[in-house]
Amino acid sequence: MGRQHALACQRLGHRVRLVYDEDLNRAAQLALECDGADVLACPEDLMWDRIDAVFVCTPPHARGPIECAAIESGTPFFLEKPVGINAGQCAQLVGALRTRPVINSVGYMSRYRTSVRHARERLRRGAIIGMSAHWLASKYNKGWWLDRNKSGGPFNEQCTHFVDLSRYLIGDVEQVVAVADDKTMPLTVSVSLKFTTGVLGTLLYSCHSQHKQIRFQVFLENGVLALDGYDLAFEHLAAPTDATWALEVEMFCRAVAEGRPDLIESDLKDAIKTQEAVDGILSSLENEQPTALSADKNLSV
Ligand SMILES: NC(=O)c1ccc[n+]([C@@H]2O[C@H](COP(=O)([O-])OP(=O)(O)OC[C@H]3O[C@@H](n4cnc5c(N)ncnc54)[C@H](O)[C@@H]3O)[C@@H](O)[C@H]2O)c1
Repeated sequence: MGRQHALACQRLGHRVRLVYDEDLNRAAQLALECDGADVLACPEDLMWDRIDAVFVCTPPHARGPIECAAIESGTPFFLEKPVGINAGQCAQLVGALRTRPVINSVGYMSRYRTSVRHARERLRRGAIIGMSAHWLASKYNKGWWLDRNKSGGPFNEQCTHFVDLSRYLIGDVEQVVAVADDKTMPLTVSVSLKFTTGVLGTLLYSCHSQHKQIRFQVFLENGVLALDGYDLAFEHLAAPTDATWALEVEMFCRAVAEGRPDLIESDLKDAIKTQEAVDGILSSLENEQPTALSADKNLSV
């Protein structure tokens, strides 16, 4: 994703000045693709006065220090989803941001899809009875992905998109009940959700599928609104995912250049609520009981 976002920035006419990856060869390869970018030997070498913004696209366990340093220097940051392996990991970051706000964006890119924006508008006009969604995919082929200490587990890594989409389209989650195939390494998870509006929903996740089977449905009094496939197509509206990644980068860059945080659909304050809902789901299946997501314990308050 770091490469994806760096090249998107270049296409928008921005300059990628500094690249860091703990795999220095990977950083060097990306620097070659980004005209004139310098490779940093370590993150402490980052010269904050040379940059306008930073993109953090590490695996979830590595998040925190760079974002905190960005806040300290007053530098806007883009953070990939999920924000960490759990919300607790972000406590210091959220505290720092509260003390010194900077423009920030979290990579829940589906919020920028035309289809999703259109569906959200449509949902404002109808009474929602419930939602039902499934995300069945194969395992992500990265060494860190199946390690819960590094990724937070497959549900945290992949299904976070649908937990976030549920919140974006329907509202905050009040209570969750979940069961899984295996409590210590859940690869298939079934969740019931109750939203603060009283709406109920269900979510089925698995990484056992050979190909992507993805659908998000919202039931209304007069029919069903369905977003289909990885690109979440709705009626005639569908844009490929890489175009959506480019759009979220464009909106972040515009927000920074124009000083307009209102252009950002997902910031850390909101993404923490998605992380807390995911944490609640994982806690429910581990403890075999419902989890209440109490607003007053929320990190984002
Ligand atoms: N929005 C999306 O649709 C989407 C798609 C793919 C990945 N992602 C997210 O992007 C993040 C990264 O995924 P990826 O596919 O790019 O993984 P990746 O493994 O391809 O890249 C991660 C890079 O981070 C480097 N790294 C690891 N720890 C580091 C540290 N402490 N400091 C510096 N560099 C470190 C690794 O060497 C690697 O090059 C994940 O959170 C993932 O969920 C989002």
